[in-house]
Amino acid sequence: MNAPEKVPATTPEPHVMTTYGRLPMALSHGRGCWLWDTDGKKYLDALAGIAVNTLGHAHPKLVPALQEQVGKLIHTSNYYAAPMQEKLAAKLCEISGLNKVFFCNSGLEANEGAIKVARKFGHDKGIERPEIVVYEKAFHGRSIATLSATGNAKVQAGFGPLVEGFVRVPLNDVAAVEQVAQSNPNVVAVFLEVIQGEGGINPAQIDYLQQVRRLCDERGWLLMLDEVQCGIGRTGKWFAHQWAGVKPDVMLLAKGLGSGVPVGAVVCGPRAADVLGPGNHGTTFGGNPLAMRAGIETLTIMEEDKLLENAAAMGAAFREGILRELQGVPGFVELRGQGLMIGIELDRPCGELLGRAAQAGLMISVTAERVIRLLPPLIISRPEVDQVLAILMPLVKDFLAAPRSQ
Ligand SMILES: Cc1ncc(COP(=O)(O)O)c(C=O)c1O
Repeated sequence: MNAPEKVPATTPEPHVMTTYGRLPMALSHGRGCWLWDTDGKKYLDALAGIAVNTLGHAHPKLVPALQEQVGKLIHTSNYYAAPMQEKLAAKLCEISGLNKVFFCNSGLEANEGAIKVARKFGHDKGIERPEIVVYEKAFHGRSIATLSATGNAKVQAGFGPLVEGFVRVPLNDVAAVEQVAQSNPNVVAVFLEVIQGEGGINPAQIDYLQQVRRLCDERGWLLMLDEVQCGIGRTGKWFAHQWAGVKPDVMLLAKGLGSGVPVGAVVCGPRAADVLGPGNHGTTFGGNPLAMRAGIETLTIMEEDKLLENAAAMGAAFREGILRELQGVPGFVELRGQGLMIGIELDRPCGELLGRAAQAGLMISVTAERVIRLLPPLIISRPEVDQVLAILMPLVKDFLAAPRSQ
Protein backbone atom coordinates (compact mmCIF):
# COMPACT_ATOMS: atom_id res chain seq x y z
CA MET A 1 0.00 0.00 0.00
CA ASN A 2 1.36 3.39 -1.00
CA ALA A 3 1.73 6.08 1.64
CA PRO A 4 -1.14 8.56 1.39
CA GLU A 5 -0.45 11.81 -0.41
CA LYS A 6 0.08 14.64 2.07
CA VAL A 7 -2.50 16.94 0.52
CA PRO A 8 -4.69 18.85 2.93
CA ALA A 9 -8.42 18.49 2.45
CA THR A 10 -9.70 21.67 0.83
CA THR A 11 -13.25 22.58 1.73
CA PRO A 12 -14.87 24.60 0.40
CA GLU A 13 -13.47 24.11 -3.09
CA PRO A 14 -13.89 27.58 -4.59
CA HIS A 15 -14.07 26.44 -8.22
CA VAL A 16 -16.46 23.54 -7.70
CA MET A 17 -20.19 24.24 -7.70
CA THR A 18 -21.67 23.94 -4.25
CA THR A 19 -24.32 21.33 -5.07
CA TYR A 20 -23.18 18.90 -2.36
CA GLY A 21 -22.86 19.13 1.41
CA ARG A 22 -19.41 17.64 1.93
CA LEU A 23 -17.55 16.42 4.98
CA PRO A 24 -14.15 18.11 5.29
CA MET A 25 -11.88 15.12 4.68
CA ALA A 26 -10.55 14.16 1.24
CA LEU A 27 -10.02 10.49 0.53
CA SER A 28 -6.73 9.34 -0.88
CA HIS A 29 -6.97 5.60 -1.48
CA GLY A 30 -8.66 2.41 -0.40
CA ARG A 31 -8.30 -1.33 -0.09
CA GLY A 32 -11.12 -3.77 0.50
CA CYS A 33 -13.62 -2.17 2.90
CA TRP A 34 -11.08 0.39 4.10
CA LEU A 35 -10.35 3.95 3.03
CA TRP A 36 -7.60 6.38 3.95
CA ASP A 37 -7.81 10.16 3.88
CA THR A 38 -5.06 12.54 2.82
CA ASP A 39 -3.92 12.87 6.47
CA GLY A 40 -3.48 9.11 6.71
CA LYS A 41 -6.56 8.50 8.85
CA LYS A 42 -8.25 5.14 8.22
CA TYR A 43 -12.01 4.59 7.80
CA LEU A 44 -14.20 1.51 7.58
CA ASP A 45 -16.46 1.90 4.54
CA ALA A 46 -20.10 1.02 5.23
CA LEU A 47 -21.32 3.22 2.36
CA ALA A 48 -19.48 1.91 -0.72
CA GLY A 49 -19.79 5.27 -2.48
CA ILE A 50 -23.61 4.98 -2.08
CA ALA A 51 -23.97 1.34 -3.16
CA VAL A 52 -21.41 1.61 -5.95
CA ASN A 53 -18.21 -0.12 -4.79
CA THR A 54 -19.61 -3.64 -4.97
CA LEU A 55 -16.12 -5.14 -4.76
CA GLY A 56 -14.78 -2.60 -2.28
CA HIS A 57 -11.65 -0.69 -3.21
CA ALA A 58 -8.63 -1.80 -5.27
CA HIS A 59 -10.00 -5.33 -5.68
CA PRO A 60 -7.08 -7.62 -6.63
CA LYS A 61 -8.97 -9.18 -9.55
CA LEU A 62 -10.72 -6.05 -10.82
CA VAL A 63 -7.69 -3.75 -10.86
CA PRO A 64 -5.52 -5.76 -13.31
CA ALA A 65 -8.52 -6.41 -15.56
CA LEU A 66 -9.31 -2.69 -15.79
CA GLN A 67 -5.63 -1.84 -16.25
CA GLU A 68 -5.45 -4.27 -19.15
CA GLN A 69 -8.62 -2.79 -20.67
CA VAL A 70 -7.38 0.79 -20.36
CA GLY A 71 -4.21 -0.26 -22.16
CA LYS A 72 -6.26 -1.84 -24.96
CA LEU A 73 -9.39 0.19 -25.64
CA ILE A 74 -11.41 2.66 -23.57
CA HIS A 75 -13.93 4.06 -26.00
CA THR A 76 -15.03 3.57 -29.59
CA SER A 77 -18.54 5.15 -29.98
CA ASN A 78 -21.56 3.12 -30.98
CA TYR A 79 -20.76 3.25 -34.71
CA TYR A 80 -19.28 -0.25 -34.61
CA ALA A 81 -20.18 -3.79 -33.58
CA ALA A 82 -20.04 -4.13 -29.80
CA PRO A 83 -19.01 -7.62 -28.68
CA MET A 84 -18.34 -6.49 -25.10
CA GLN A 85 -21.84 -5.00 -24.87
CA GLU A 86 -23.20 -8.32 -26.10
CA LYS A 87 -21.19 -10.21 -23.47
CA LEU A 88 -22.42 -8.10 -20.55
CA ALA A 89 -25.97 -7.94 -21.96
CA ALA A 90 -26.08 -11.74 -22.30
CA LYS A 91 -24.95 -12.13 -18.68
CA LEU A 92 -27.54 -9.63 -17.43
CA CYS A 93 -30.23 -11.47 -19.41
CA GLU A 94 -29.08 -14.82 -17.98
CA ILE A 95 -29.28 -13.66 -14.36
CA SER A 96 -32.51 -11.67 -14.78
CA GLY A 97 -34.44 -13.88 -17.21
CA LEU A 98 -35.02 -10.80 -19.38
CA ASN A 99 -34.16 -10.37 -23.06
CA LYS A 100 -32.37 -7.22 -24.22
CA VAL A 101 -30.26 -4.42 -22.77
CA PHE A 102 -29.52 -0.79 -23.63
CA PHE A 103 -26.38 0.57 -21.94
CA CYS A 104 -26.01 4.08 -20.59
CA ASN A 105 -23.84 5.73 -17.94
CA SER A 106 -25.81 6.39 -14.76
CA GLY A 107 -28.97 5.71 -12.81
CA LEU A 108 -30.88 8.71 -14.02
CA GLU A 109 -30.02 7.85 -17.61
CA ALA A 110 -31.31 4.31 -17.13
CA ASN A 111 -34.54 5.74 -15.73
CA GLU A 112 -34.83 8.26 -18.58
CA GLY A 113 -34.54 5.28 -20.90
CA ALA A 114 -37.36 3.53 -19.06
CA ILE A 115 -39.59 6.60 -19.28
CA LYS A 116 -38.94 6.74 -23.03
CA VAL A 117 -39.71 3.02 -23.40
CA ALA A 118 -43.01 3.49 -21.52
CA ARG A 119 -44.06 6.53 -23.55
CA LYS A 120 -43.19 4.91 -26.89
CA PHE A 121 -44.96 1.72 -25.76
CA GLY A 122 -48.05 3.88 -25.16
CA HIS A 123 -47.79 5.74 -28.46
CA ASP A 124 -47.38 2.43 -30.30
CA LYS A 125 -50.72 1.39 -28.75
CA GLY A 126 -52.37 4.63 -29.88
CA ILE A 127 -52.26 6.38 -26.50
CA GLU A 128 -51.29 9.96 -27.29
CA ARG A 129 -50.70 11.16 -23.72
CA PRO A 130 -49.24 8.15 -21.93
CA GLU A 131 -48.99 8.29 -18.15
CA ILE A 132 -46.78 6.40 -15.72
CA VAL A 133 -47.67 5.45 -12.15
CA VAL A 134 -44.93 6.66 -9.77
CA TYR A 135 -44.55 6.71 -5.99
CA GLU A 136 -44.49 8.94 -2.95
CA LYS A 137 -40.94 9.07 -1.52
CA ALA A 138 -39.47 7.65 -4.73
CA PHE A 139 -36.08 8.77 -6.03
CA HIS A 140 -35.20 8.25 -9.67
CA GLY A 141 -32.54 10.88 -10.36
CA ARG A 142 -32.07 14.58 -10.99
CA SER A 143 -32.68 15.14 -14.69
CA ILE A 144 -35.90 17.04 -15.35
CA ALA A 145 -37.90 13.92 -16.24
CA THR A 146 -36.50 11.75 -13.44
CA LEU A 147 -36.91 14.45 -10.80
CA SER A 148 -40.50 14.81 -11.98
CA ALA A 149 -40.95 11.06 -11.36
CA THR A 150 -39.24 11.45 -7.96
CA GLY A 151 -41.59 11.81 -4.98
CA ASN A 152 -39.66 14.42 -3.02
CA ALA A 153 -40.64 18.10 -3.14
CA LYS A 154 -37.11 19.18 -2.10
CA VAL A 155 -35.58 17.54 -5.17
CA GLN A 156 -38.15 19.24 -7.42
CA ALA A 157 -38.12 22.70 -5.80
CA GLY A 158 -36.95 25.41 -8.19
CA PHE A 159 -37.05 23.27 -11.33
CA GLY A 160 -40.61 23.63 -12.50
CA PRO A 161 -42.41 23.25 -14.76
CA LEU A 162 -42.14 19.55 -14.08
CA VAL A 163 -42.54 16.95 -16.82
CA GLU A 164 -46.15 15.81 -17.05
CA GLY A 165 -47.41 12.29 -17.48
CA PHE A 166 -46.88 10.91 -13.98
CA VAL A 167 -49.61 9.75 -11.56
CA ARG A 168 -48.42 9.40 -7.96
CA VAL A 169 -49.52 6.76 -5.45
CA PRO A 170 -48.34 5.67 -1.97
CA LEU A 171 -46.16 2.55 -1.74
CA ASN A 172 -47.68 -0.79 -0.71
CA ASP A 173 -51.28 0.34 -1.31
CA VAL A 174 -52.75 -1.93 -3.99
CA ALA A 175 -56.12 -0.15 -3.82
CA ALA A 176 -54.44 3.12 -4.86
CA VAL A 177 -53.07 1.53 -8.06
CA GLU A 178 -56.40 -0.18 -8.72
CA GLN A 179 -58.12 3.16 -8.41
CA VAL A 180 -55.73 4.66 -10.97
CA ALA A 181 -56.48 1.70 -13.24
CA GLN A 182 -60.23 2.40 -12.99
CA SER A 183 -60.00 6.12 -13.58
CA ASN A 184 -57.12 6.62 -15.99
CA PRO A 185 -57.14 4.99 -19.44
CA ASN A 186 -53.82 6.62 -20.37
CA VAL A 187 -51.68 4.67 -17.91
CA VAL A 188 -49.03 2.57 -19.65
CA ALA A 189 -46.61 1.58 -16.89
CA VAL A 190 -45.93 1.30 -13.15
CA PHE A 191 -42.47 2.50 -12.16
CA LEU A 192 -41.00 1.84 -8.71
CA GLU A 193 -37.93 1.03 -6.65
CA VAL A 194 -38.17 -2.44 -5.13
CA ILE A 195 -36.63 -0.93 -2.01
CA GLN A 196 -36.79 2.86 -1.92
CA GLY A 197 -33.26 4.00 -1.13
CA GLU A 198 -33.12 7.78 -0.81
CA GLY A 199 -36.70 7.73 0.50
CA GLY A 200 -35.59 5.94 3.68
CA ILE A 201 -35.04 2.21 2.87
CA ASN A 202 -38.73 1.46 2.34
CA PRO A 203 -39.29 -2.00 0.82
CA ALA A 204 -42.16 -2.79 -1.51
CA GLN A 205 -43.82 -5.77 0.16
CA ILE A 206 -43.58 -9.10 -1.65
CA ASP A 207 -47.34 -9.40 -1.84
CA TYR A 208 -47.58 -5.85 -3.16
CA LEU A 209 -45.10 -6.54 -5.98
CA GLN A 210 -47.05 -9.66 -6.92
CA GLN A 211 -50.34 -7.74 -6.97
CA VAL A 212 -48.85 -4.95 -9.08
CA ARG A 213 -47.43 -7.54 -11.49
CA ARG A 214 -50.93 -9.06 -11.79
CA LEU A 215 -52.47 -5.66 -12.40
CA CYS A 216 -49.88 -4.83 -15.06
CA ASP A 217 -50.66 -8.11 -16.83
CA GLU A 218 -54.40 -7.53 -16.68
CA ARG A 219 -54.13 -3.98 -17.98
CA GLY A 220 -51.32 -4.45 -20.49
CA TRP A 221 -49.04 -2.07 -18.56
CA LEU A 222 -45.27 -2.34 -18.23
CA LEU A 223 -43.86 -3.09 -14.78
CA MET A 224 -40.65 -1.05 -14.59
CA LEU A 225 -38.40 -1.63 -11.57
CA ASP A 226 -35.68 0.83 -10.58
CA GLU A 227 -32.99 -1.45 -9.13
CA VAL A 228 -30.30 1.21 -9.38
CA GLN A 229 -29.60 1.07 -5.63
CA CYS A 230 -31.06 -2.29 -4.55
CA GLY A 231 -29.88 -4.41 -7.52
CA ILE A 232 -26.60 -6.19 -8.33
CA GLY A 233 -26.55 -8.55 -5.39
CA ARG A 234 -27.09 -6.00 -2.67
CA THR A 235 -30.08 -7.78 -1.11
CA GLY A 236 -28.58 -11.28 -1.42
CA LYS A 237 -30.18 -12.09 -4.78
CA TRP A 238 -29.01 -10.62 -8.07
CA PHE A 239 -32.03 -8.35 -8.10
CA ALA A 240 -34.30 -7.38 -5.21
CA HIS A 241 -37.52 -8.22 -7.09
CA GLN A 242 -36.40 -11.85 -7.30
CA TRP A 243 -37.38 -12.24 -3.63
CA ALA A 244 -41.00 -11.77 -4.79
CA GLY A 245 -40.71 -14.28 -7.64
CA VAL A 246 -41.93 -11.72 -10.18
CA LYS A 247 -40.28 -10.54 -13.39
CA PRO A 248 -40.42 -6.92 -14.51
CA ASP A 249 -40.84 -5.80 -18.11
CA VAL A 250 -38.11 -3.21 -17.64
CA MET A 251 -35.37 -3.16 -14.99
CA LEU A 252 -32.99 -0.25 -14.45
CA LEU A 253 -29.45 -0.73 -13.19
CA ALA A 254 -26.41 1.45 -12.53
CA LYS A 255 -24.39 2.08 -9.31
CA GLY A 256 -22.97 -1.34 -8.33
CA LEU A 257 -22.84 -2.73 -11.88
CA GLY A 258 -19.42 -1.25 -12.65
CA SER A 259 -17.90 -1.31 -9.13
CA GLY A 260 -17.13 2.41 -9.53
CA VAL A 261 -16.75 2.72 -13.28
CA PRO A 262 -19.87 4.59 -14.48
CA VAL A 263 -22.33 2.31 -16.25
CA GLY A 264 -26.11 2.04 -16.41
CA ALA A 265 -28.45 -0.42 -18.07
CA VAL A 266 -32.05 -0.61 -19.26
CA VAL A 267 -32.84 -4.34 -19.17
CA CYS A 268 -36.03 -5.31 -20.99
CA GLY A 269 -38.29 -8.34 -21.11
CA PRO A 270 -40.21 -9.47 -24.20
CA ARG A 271 -42.94 -6.80 -24.06
CA ALA A 272 -40.45 -3.94 -23.92
CA ALA A 273 -37.34 -5.24 -25.69
CA ASP A 274 -38.28 -4.04 -29.19
CA VAL A 275 -40.12 -0.84 -28.32
CA LEU A 276 -37.11 1.36 -29.08
CA GLY A 277 -35.70 0.97 -32.56
CA PRO A 278 -33.01 2.59 -34.71
CA GLY A 279 -32.73 6.31 -34.05
CA ASN A 280 -35.01 6.27 -30.97
CA HIS A 281 -32.33 6.48 -28.30
CA GLY A 282 -28.58 6.78 -27.86
CA THR A 283 -25.67 8.17 -25.88
CA THR A 284 -22.04 8.75 -26.82
CA PHE A 285 -20.40 6.97 -23.89
CA GLY A 286 -23.02 4.25 -23.38
CA GLY A 287 -21.62 0.72 -23.40
CA ASN A 288 -17.99 1.69 -23.99
CA PRO A 289 -15.38 -1.05 -23.62
CA LEU A 290 -14.07 0.18 -20.24
CA ALA A 291 -17.56 0.28 -18.70
CA MET A 292 -18.43 -3.11 -20.21
CA ARG A 293 -15.26 -4.67 -18.88
CA ALA A 294 -16.03 -3.28 -15.43
CA GLY A 295 -19.53 -4.79 -15.57
CA ILE A 296 -18.37 -8.16 -16.89
CA GLU A 297 -15.61 -8.44 -14.27
CA THR A 298 -17.92 -7.30 -11.46
CA LEU A 299 -20.50 -9.99 -12.20
CA THR A 300 -17.83 -12.66 -12.75
CA ILE A 301 -16.05 -11.87 -9.49
CA MET A 302 -19.37 -11.75 -7.64
CA GLU A 303 -20.04 -15.31 -8.81
CA GLU A 304 -16.52 -16.60 -8.19
CA ASP A 305 -16.39 -15.11 -4.70
CA LYS A 306 -20.00 -16.00 -3.81
CA LEU A 307 -20.91 -12.43 -2.98
CA LEU A 308 -24.69 -12.97 -3.11
CA GLU A 309 -24.35 -15.49 -0.31
CA ASN A 310 -22.02 -13.13 1.53
CA ALA A 311 -24.48 -10.22 1.20
CA ALA A 312 -27.27 -12.36 2.63
CA ALA A 313 -25.13 -13.71 5.49
CA MET A 314 -23.50 -10.41 6.43
CA GLY A 315 -26.89 -8.69 6.16
CA ALA A 316 -28.29 -11.18 8.67
CA ALA A 317 -25.31 -10.55 10.98
CA PHE A 318 -25.93 -6.80 10.79
CA ARG A 319 -29.62 -7.22 11.54
CA GLU A 320 -28.99 -9.47 14.50
CA GLY A 321 -26.34 -7.13 15.92
CA ILE A 322 -28.39 -3.97 15.40
CA LEU A 323 -31.50 -5.44 17.00
CA ARG A 324 -29.49 -6.84 19.90
CA GLU A 325 -28.13 -3.36 20.61
CA LEU A 326 -31.09 -1.14 19.77
CA GLN A 327 -34.26 -3.13 20.45
CA GLY A 328 -36.10 -1.33 23.23
CA VAL A 329 -33.80 1.72 23.20
CA PRO A 330 -36.00 4.85 23.35
CA GLY A 331 -35.76 6.69 20.03
CA PHE A 332 -35.08 3.61 17.91
CA VAL A 333 -38.08 3.20 15.59
CA GLU A 334 -37.42 0.39 13.14
CA LEU A 335 -34.84 -1.64 11.24
CA ARG A 336 -35.62 -2.04 7.53
CA GLY A 337 -34.07 -3.40 4.36
CA GLN A 338 -32.61 -6.62 3.09
CA GLY A 339 -29.11 -8.05 2.82
CA LEU A 340 -26.58 -5.22 2.73
CA MET A 341 -29.15 -2.47 2.17
CA ILE A 342 -29.96 -1.48 5.72
CA GLY A 343 -31.97 1.38 7.19
CA ILE A 344 -32.14 2.17 10.91
CA GLU A 345 -34.96 4.64 11.53
CA LEU A 346 -34.73 6.91 14.57
CA ASP A 347 -37.47 9.14 15.94
CA ARG A 348 -35.55 12.34 15.17
CA PRO A 349 -33.35 13.91 12.47
CA CYS A 350 -29.90 12.39 12.77
CA GLY A 351 -27.83 13.92 9.97
CA GLU A 352 -25.11 14.86 12.43
CA LEU A 353 -24.29 11.16 12.87
CA LEU A 354 -22.62 11.26 9.47
CA GLY A 355 -19.85 13.53 10.72
CA ARG A 356 -19.63 11.82 14.10
CA ALA A 357 -19.24 8.42 12.46
CA ALA A 358 -16.55 9.78 10.13
CA GLN A 359 -14.70 11.22 13.12
CA ALA A 360 -14.86 7.78 14.68
CA GLY A 361 -13.50 6.21 11.47
CA LEU A 362 -16.70 4.95 9.86
CA MET A 363 -18.42 5.90 6.58
CA ILE A 364 -22.21 5.73 6.69
CA SER A 365 -25.08 7.75 5.28
CA VAL A 366 -28.24 9.30 6.64
CA THR A 367 -31.24 9.53 4.36
CA ALA A 368 -34.80 10.85 4.68
CA GLU A 369 -33.48 12.83 7.69
CA ARG A 370 -34.04 10.10 10.28
CA VAL A 371 -32.73 6.94 8.68
CA ILE A 372 -29.16 5.74 9.15
CA ARG A 373 -28.29 3.90 5.96
CA LEU A 374 -25.66 1.19 5.60
CA LEU A 375 -24.63 0.07 2.10
CA PRO A 376 -21.25 -1.60 2.59
CA PRO A 377 -19.27 -3.30 -0.19
CA LEU A 378 -20.57 -6.84 -0.81
CA ILE A 379 -17.14 -8.22 0.13
CA ILE A 380 -17.53 -7.15 3.78
CA SER A 381 -16.37 -9.85 6.23
CA ARG A 382 -17.84 -10.90 9.56
CA PRO A 383 -15.07 -9.19 11.61
CA GLU A 384 -15.69 -6.00 9.62
CA VAL A 385 -19.44 -6.20 10.30
CA ASP A 386 -18.59 -6.45 13.99
CA GLN A 387 -16.26 -3.45 13.68
CA VAL A 388 -18.98 -1.36 12.01
CA LEU A 389 -21.36 -2.23 14.85
CA ALA A 390 -18.71 -1.60 17.51
CA ILE A 391 -18.28 1.96 16.21
CA LEU A 392 -21.87 2.75 15.21
CA MET A 393 -23.99 1.33 18.01
CA PRO A 394 -22.45 3.40 20.85
CA LEU A 395 -22.72 6.51 18.65
CA VAL A 396 -26.41 5.88 18.06
CA LYS A 397 -27.10 5.11 21.71
CA ASP A 398 -25.26 8.24 22.89
CA PHE A 399 -27.11 10.31 20.32
CA LEU A 400 -30.49 8.99 21.44
CA ALA A 401 -29.63 9.40 25.12
CA ALA A 402 -28.64 13.05 24.73
CA PRO A 403 -31.29 15.74 25.22
CA ARG A 404 -32.96 16.48 21.87
CA SER A 405 -31.69 19.61 20.19
CA GLN A 406 -34.64 21.46 18.66
C1 LIG B 1 -33.07 4.17 -6.91
C2 LIG B 1 -32.25 5.19 -7.60
N1 LIG B 1 -32.54 5.50 -8.87
C3 LIG B 1 -31.80 6.39 -9.54
C4 LIG B 1 -30.75 7.04 -8.96
C5 LIG B 1 -29.95 8.05 -9.75
O1 LIG B 1 -28.75 7.49 -10.10
P1 LIG B 1 -27.54 8.44 -10.58
O2 LIG B 1 -27.13 9.23 -9.39
O3 LIG B 1 -26.51 7.47 -11.06
O4 LIG B 1 -28.08 9.30 -11.66
C6 LIG B 1 -30.41 6.74 -7.65
C7 LIG B 1 -29.29 7.43 -6.98
O5 LIG B 1 -29.19 7.49 -5.80
C8 LIG B 1 -31.18 5.80 -6.96
O6 LIG B 1 -30.90 5.48 -5.69
